[in-house]
Amino acid sequence: MKKKIRLGLIGAGSVVREIYQHLYFRSQYSELLEICAVADPNEECRNWFGDLAGLPASRRYADYRELLDQVELDAVQVNTPDHLHAAPTVAALKAGLDVVVPKPTAATVKDAHAMIQAAREHGRILAVDFHKREDPRIKEAEARYQSGRYGTLQAAVFYMLDKLFVADPNHTPRFFASPDFAARNTPISFLTVHMADALMKIVNLIPVQVRAIGYAHKLPSLKPQPVHGYDLVDTEILFDSGAVAHILTGWAVPNTAWSTTVQSGRLICSDGLLDLGLDTPGLLEIHADGVLQVNPLFRNFEKDQTVTGYGITHPGRLYRQMLASRSGTLSAAERESLFTPMALGFYTTLVLEGAERSLAAGKSAAAGVTVGPATDLRELVVQQLGKGAAREYGLA
Ligand SMILES: NC(=O)c1ccc[n+]([C@@H]2O[C@H](COP(=O)([O-])OP(=O)(O)OC[C@H]3O[C@@H](n4cnc5c(N)ncnc54)[C@H](O)[C@@H]3O)[C@@H](O)[C@H]2O)c1
Repeated sequence: MKKKIRLGLIGAGSVVREIYQHLYFRSQYSELLEICAVADPNEECRNWFGDLAGLPASRRYADYRELLDQVELDAVQVNTPDHLHAAPTVAALKAGLDVVVPKPTAATVKDAHAMIQAAREHGRILAVDFHKREDPRIKEAEARYQSGRYGTLQAAVFYMLDKLFVADPNHTPRFFASPDFAARNTPISFLTVHMADALMKIVNLIPVQVRAIGYAHKLPSLKPQPVHGYDLVDTEILFDSGAVAHILTGWAVPNTAWSTTVQSGRLICSDGLLDLGLDTPGLLEIHADGVLQVNPLFRNFEKDQTVTGYGITHPGRLYRQMLASRSGTLSAAERESLFTPMALGFYTTLVLEGAERSLAAGKSAAAGVTVGPATDLRELVVQQLGKGAAREYGLA
């Protein structure tokens, strides 16, 4: 039986620094992984990770295609920016490797579809790390909702609001490495996708229409370096059942907030209501630094230096499934569950693209406020992928 996944890394930027280095080297899953090579055109990132993993110079590549050609691997993890997930993923699947990507699957449905098709065609696993899928509160909500306990979902409100320093290039030390982080990423691509995916996992509904409103009051006023991006976005999602959700995300909450991310969610149903205390995880700290809600459920640095929490468990579980698949011990049902459009993050990418398109076509309603029109997601999928694919995804 196979004991380890030989893993190559394509992209070694912020998400590897903040999350995956702990998974690879200091978690209960580390023994399942043998880190064999890294590819990143950025020399500093490539060498930072190469040094951390103890990789020789010959296993550090600027071009991922050379890594795929030259190293014997079982899988790669593609940690490139969202719009660059598809090409390395498709190339790796074609080469017979399994692939993990951090959320979201891709920036467009065209890319997500190409990745899903390649996985199916080559019989390999494509797995998306949406760590909230492993949050015990989301899993409990899913089981309870899907038991029928609350009847039919009518409306949901979720929010995920980062402290300003996350997006502020004037803050020292800078939270994300690049000074144009908040101009290059929107709250939709970075945050809404987490909540949209968590909600869709709970209620298992297909989104059919999206509309977004963006607010830009705070970020453009930052000094000395202003940011040309949104403080806050409200994404309204209409589901095939007629249920509606508002997902409010942004990064302009004052730095005095009780946690880096102020977040929660509420589902209002025909027979009950479900409240998720996502930012009150039960460890409140009063300290000279301030008052802080600590979330040990997400990423927990334990006394013995191991790192646990659902930020680690979710990708770890994906690698365990890969290992089982390569050892021939993954059950058919488990394998099938990995290949549903929901599991592959297709609908989350659909919400992302629909909302970004809505904002891009939006009109100014007042100073700093952009109101986008409704994007019909069925039309979008037919236009981008054709009627056959739209039918496969339950959207025609
Ligand atoms: N799980 C989470 O909560 C979470 C958090 C942050 C980011 N992410 C996701 O992780 C991904 C990476 O985000 P990030 O914040 O680390 O971005 P980043 O810009 O910090 O890092 C991306 C890295 O990819 C490299 N890269 C670019 N093109 C490449 C190519 N063709 N081949 C190899 N490497 C290439 C860049 O040089 C860079 O080092 C994105 O999809 C993002 O949405 C997930």
